[in-house]
Amino acid sequence: MKNIDAGTHVKGGSVYLDDIPLVNGTLFGAAYGSPVAHGNIEQLDVTEAAQMPGVVRIFTYADITGENQIGGIIPDEPLFAEGQTHFCGMPLAFVVATSNEAARAAVKKIKTAITPLPVITDPREAQARGELIVPPRTFTLGDVSAAWQQCTHVIEGRADTNGQEHLYIETQGAYVIPQENDVLKIYSSTQGPTAVQRAVSRSVGLPMHMLDVEITRLGGGFGGKEDQANTWAALCALAAHHLKKPVKYSLHRMDDMAMTGKRHPYSSDFKIGLDHELKIVAYEVTFYQNAGAAADLSPAVMERTLFHCTNSYFIPNVKATAYSCRTHLPPNTAFRGFGGPQGMFVIEAAIAKAAAVLDVPAAKIQRQNLLHTGDEFPYGQKAQSEAHACWNKAEEWYDTAAIRHNIFTFNTANKLYKKGMAMMPVCFGISFTKTLMNQARALVHVYTDGSVSVSTGAIEMGQGVNTKIVQVAAAVFGLPADKVRIQPTSTFRIANTSPSAASATADLNGKATWMACTAIAGRLKEVAAAELNVNVNAITFQQERVYVHGAPTDWDWKKLLMAAYAKRVSLSEHAHYATPEIHFDGAKEKGHPFAYHVYGTAILEVTVDCLRGTYTIDTVKVVHDFGASMNPAIDQGQIEGGIVQGIGWMTMEEVIYDAEGRLRSNALSTYKVPDIYAAPKEILIEFLDTQQDNLAIFRSKAVGEPPLMYGIGAWFALRNAMLAFNPAADIPFTTPMTPEKVLLALYSKPANGTIVAHENTVSHLAVDK
Ligand code: MTE
Ligand code: HPA
Ligand code: MOS
Repeated sequence: MKNIDAGTHVKGGSVYLDDIPLVNGTLFGAAYGSPVAHGNIEQLDVTEAAQMPGVVRIFTYADITGENQIGGIIPDEPLFAEGQTHFCGMPLAFVVATSNEAARAAVKKIKTAITPLPVITDPREAQARGELIVPPRTFTLGDVSAAWQQCTHVIEGRADTNGQEHLYIETQGAYVIPQENDVLKIYSSTQGPTAVQRAVSRSVGLPMHMLDVEITRLGGGFGGKEDQANTWAALCALAAHHLKKPVKYSLHRMDDMAMTGKRHPYSSDFKIGLDHELKIVAYEVTFYQNAGAAADLSPAVMERTLFHCTNSYFIPNVKATAYSCRTHLPPNTAFRGFGGPQGMFVIEAAIAKAAAVLDVPAAKIQRQNLLHTGDEFPYGQKAQSEAHACWNKAEEWYDTAAIRHNIFTFNTANKLYKKGMAMMPVCFGISFTKTLMNQARALVHVYTDGSVSVSTGAIEMGQGVNTKIVQVAAAVFGLPADKVRIQPTSTFRIANTSPSAASATADLNGKATWMACTAIAGRLKEVAAAELNVNVNAITFQQERVYVHGAPTDWDWKKLLMAAYAKRVSLSEHAHYATPEIHFDGAKEKGHPFAYHVYGTAILEVTVDCLRGTYTIDTVKVVHDFGASMNPAIDQGQIEGGIVQGIGWMTMEEVIYDAEGRLRSNALSTYKVPDIYAAPKEILIEFLDTQQDNLAIFRSKAVGEPPLMYGIGAWFALRNAMLAFNPAADIPFTTPMTPEKVLLALYSKPANGTIVAHENTVSHLAVDK
């Protein structure tokens, strides 16, 4: 089935926040963010700004009617800075004016006197000073300290991954319209309607039943709107509540980039031990997560880093420790993979370093250690593994022997261009790591004209969840897709939602939809059985008709509905789904947190121009465990998008803060994301069809986040190409691998300082020219 949004997307008819027709009298907001990362606010002078044309009012913490607090997991994040600022871009004031332009012009006239305090941007420094968001956590399996003796090789190192800007096409924003009796209608570009509702409730001081947060769709979220849509909704709601006027704020791209958090940078230390058969015997890793100035979702992200610290491998002795470090950057937040990619990069770096020291291909170590079914993860869950199936199919299908041979031949024949390849296995757990979040509800109405209305807590952000939910309802009722309509997500229709995140949205909301539809269908079957005088088990619904024992009857869908309605049978249902089987004991750090795991293997090939340091990503070949995909076109799109986003994080996207905590990569001119030239020339995807009875909706496994981690392979493929040029190159495990870093590393000396004995590239250069 094609994406239900395809038509309106192509024709420009899809409604995003900025497309909502304006209510008469709408005012426009703009936030004034702190120009200083850390300091005491001595003075905030808005007098000149307040006199600017069109300015209606300027709000600060003093105007807050509830609590000056929007922290989700930990109450450590004021809506407005009060007394101190903690990061550049932290809101100090919110200007409301009669136009967007007027509001932005007035923001520029606000003046502050802030006495600077020491700024920390490095997580290791924060940890050394005891600046932690939560106490550190450690996952253990076996006994690492005893295991080192069994290892023939022990290799240590350090790995650093940088942040990543979400760059959703639609920037953050909110539009709040007061209703009668102080009720607020809140349009928000959020992945978490309930998170917005809670944050507004707390800061404005209104009960949740007065706050209707409604969302039709987002122009992308990628985790950046799981919690960080709250600020803008709270600012608009506060102003709308005071002024009794609609207030809208749609962020300028540069403000969005400067004021919101990103993927967490991590700095990590690893120690890996292998035996003579290349089995990884022990792995010890310490993660320093750069959380930014407030908790936001950092503790949960840190937890997922620990869950995925061994990626797709079984390691019998593991000790993994993580610190969530408070720095003076904007609070970092969820980003596709949610800490998993940061954990996986480190184990892949450890394997690559071990491979270099032992002079074997990394793939040999990777393959030797892939998870088997029954193997235990460091958190206690046993694997139901598809790791070997994916890897083996990738090797056979794409003929890795031939790929290696071709690369060798190419590299022998070419001096200034070198190719490299890397294998990237991925294993990603599906479920919110916090067990309680794994619940969802659906409200289904069947109207007497035969049309069906479905409301869930799911947010459509381009990932196709609404299409999948249509498929669920249409399948249960035996209806064509156009008979089912997904309503905008609303906190008045569906309460206490988990955010659309963790790749679990279709599983959770799809299952709730299935339950609601199945309950209504059950009642309708009773009606049909009575009318047709047959056993209820003989009834099915197909093609808008009642079937008995697989044969059509003269009862069509509408006739059945009218009969049920006449009998006063309910045609509506509200269902609640909670993932069974999952649990986790935080005191022991053991349990069964995931409904299931998604597996896959990617083969990435790159070509490096060793004169310029530039490169192309030639091909990404994937075998991916889709389960039984219910929508291969959508799932393929998720894989392609995830891969390109992952490659961007690993290669060209470089978030740069200066020592004062100011974002220097603050626009698309200085922050480069993959375009069509930087994207892989080819992406091939093979489906590993697995049919286990798992907890995925219609056995169609979650697909949103796992493919991003295939992109990690690009970094290692580049490394291999560079080593083909200069086998002694010093290539620190730091990301992103920008062309600039490639160039420096290509002509580097080995870390130990000895001069590289290498062919004279300069003379070849002359020859080529
Ligand atoms: N795909 C698109 N087009 N836009 C997005 O914002 N977000 C990703 C992924 N794919 C995203 C996307 C992230 S971070 C997650 S968690 C999942 O989609 C969320 O949706 P799902 O649970 O339905 O997979
Ligand atoms: N994934 C994504 N978002 C989340 C999670 C998670 O595991 N936990 C809380 N928010
Ligand atoms: Mo995705 S990072 O769980 O929104």
